[in-house]
Amino acid sequence: MVYCFSGTGNSRWVADELEGLLLGQRSQELSKAEDSKEVFGLVFPVYAWGIPKVVEDYIGEHLQEIEAAEYVYAVMTCGDDIGYADTVLKKRLNGRLDAVFSVHMPNTYVCLPGFDVDKDEVAERKVRETLERLPQIAKDINERKRTTEVCRGGAAWLKTYVLRPLFNRFLVTDKYFHTTKNCFQCKRCVRGCPLDNITTDKDGHVVWKHENCTGCLRCYHRCPAQAVQFGWFTKNKGQKIHDFD
Ligand SMILES: Cc1cc2nc3c(=O)[nH]c(=O)nc-3n(C[C@H](O)[C@H](O)[C@H](O)COP(=O)(O)O)c2cc1C
Repeated sequence: MVYCFSGTGNSRWVADELEGLLLGQRSQELSKAEDSKEVFGLVFPVYAWGIPKVVEDYIGEHLQEIEAAEYVYAVMTCGDDIGYADTVLKKRLNGRLDAVFSVHMPNTYVCLPGFDVDKDEVAERKVRETLERLPQIAKDINERKRTTEVCRGGAAWLKTYVLRPLFNRFLVTDKYFHTTKNCFQCKRCVRGCPLDNITTDKDGHVVWKHENCTGCLRCYHRCPAQAVQFGWFTKNKGQKIHDFD
């Protein structure tokens, strides 16, 4: 069983690539049904040097099922570094995490000054390097290796245990989202929101429901008119053009 959450396609792409490799490498006699009972995988993006709220909620609801698996692994995609996101994850899983990997993918976070999408060559290099690394990750998973292979980065403790709670408290919210006059009401954001948190009002204007935004920024990156903005923070920022799905 593999659970995947992906805001803008990076983690979905990694999950799909990995699944192909896992199936390709696996020994013939092990049936898919048997395998899926034994192994539980989680693939998702790192948010604020921790794990997305939607992933935390999922784990809370499926903990028994995950704990019953013989081998639990996670692959986290990140733009730069994960801090102690793996430790946060392991705690959430009651310690049931056998292998955890982080892989670099194009950055999607653009909501604070100084944060923007990657230049094309950087984004392409990250994808290429991840593609090169995935076969070894799949091999490790198939061999049920117990390992932690993550890019923690500098000031990891500060990022995860000081900045992350502040980020979650003040910036994981949909209250700063709005559309500019460029919005032509195509409703791509409405249809695409993975948490069904966007709708239209009686005049057809896009509105956020203030219910369960996890901050994935799919609405921002997918808007064909770049009309979705997060306060003034996203003004003149780029959109992630490496869309995998
Ligand atoms: C709200 C938010 C917070 C993020 N925080 C981090 C972070 O702490 N470290 C990092 O390296 N990348 C961070 N990123 C970048 C994403 O982890 C990265 O681009 C990921 O591959 C996106 O995956 P997705 O396309 O599956 O949503 C963040 C992105 C978002 C939207």
